[in-house]
Amino acid sequence: MSEVAIEKNTYWVGVNDRTTDLFEGLWPIEGIGVSYNSYIIKDEKNVLIDLAKGIKTDDFFNQISRIVDIDKLDYVIVNHMEPDHTGVIKTLRKIARNVEILCSPKAVKMLQDYYGISEDVREVKDGETLSIGSHELQFVHVPFVHWPETMVTFDTTTGVLFSCDAFGGYGAFQGTIFDDECTDLSFYEKESLRYYSNIVAKFSTPVLNAIKKLDGVALKIIAPSHGLVWRKNPARIVDLYKTWAGYSTSGGEKGITLLYGSMYGNTEAVMNAVAQGISDGGIHPEIFDVARVHVSYILPSLWKNNGVVIGAPTYEVSLFPYMQQVLEKAVLKNVKHKKAIYFGSYGWSKGAFKKVQKIAEDLNWEVTEGLEFPGKGTDDIFESGYNLGKRFAQSLK
Ligand code: FEO
Repeated sequence: MSEVAIEKNTYWVGVNDRTTDLFEGLWPIEGIGVSYNSYIIKDEKNVLIDLAKGIKTDDFFNQISRIVDIDKLDYVIVNHMEPDHTGVIKTLRKIARNVEILCSPKAVKMLQDYYGISEDVREVKDGETLSIGSHELQFVHVPFVHWPETMVTFDTTTGVLFSCDAFGGYGAFQGTIFDDECTDLSFYEKESLRYYSNIVAKFSTPVLNAIKKLDGVALKIIAPSHGLVWRKNPARIVDLYKTWAGYSTSGGEKGITLLYGSMYGNTEAVMNAVAQGISDGGIHPEIFDVARVHVSYILPSLWKNNGVVIGAPTYEVSLFPYMQQVLEKAVLKNVKHKKAIYFGSYGWSKGAFKKVQKIAEDLNWEVTEGLEFPGKGTDDIFESGYNLGKRFAQSLK
């Protein structure tokens, strides 16, 4: 994609990544991709705000060159050090020999650690401003959105907030970078929640702190470093992030994520009865086979819903491993304050329910009931499963 003007003297010069399969080496983005948004403000001083991962470097530099000669860049603002936004910085420094890097104090050591860069690096304080001619930029430290060194840059002249990871989402651009020109906002909103639950969720308190800190700022456009530029309705993505961050303490909204795994179909058969009970109890369950669906796609549902149903057999006196892996990811991502129930088959020993209860302690999940049954479910077990699901759905507020 070519460079695009987003405001006066302000241009998007990002990279659409449609070839990386796993974001952070972990999270599937195959088929939808992701963008690394970078921006230039051309003024008496020329500023590049955030960079890109070290792919398509020639294309990226060519885009910059259409707006300003790379060796005429005066400043590079590094809002965040993760290499998806800094991967090309060493190469850039070889071309733009006079460029000064502006970053938060905590980014300084990271620049050295990742790239061996220590010269012409200037720390900027929280709230510090920089005049670059007709624009004034203000730096606002927002630690742990996503790493400790993160900050955002606000153009007080145009009202553009360059927010880096904050307010971002998965999904390469499909013809436009702007919310008002996008004909399928639901795609980006869905992928923003997946991104939030995969990448940002653990840092929900810092997200809420950042939103509070930015309250009252006269922002007109949110220009994140992943996903759409919110030009028409920036409040929409702020509201979504605020809602999602709030789930970290509220436990989410009324809904049920039904996770199941099955070795020979016995737990799966009872799962169908539990799901029917849930449905008759008034909630449409979101059902995931934990052995077949990547946890990246399960986390948004777990994050949003206040109820979790765990159906998995005992495996070697413990929990079916794929289920354990999903629950451990939930621990890693601080998916807390849920209500949960368990059901599952066992062969020669119980053990899964005990393991679920132990993991639930780390999650502050209230496991209200468990149904363990030997081998294949009997008619009584199917009826118990149905009633368990119905009771659970009716108990959620
Ligand atoms: Fe998009 Fe935390 O990097």
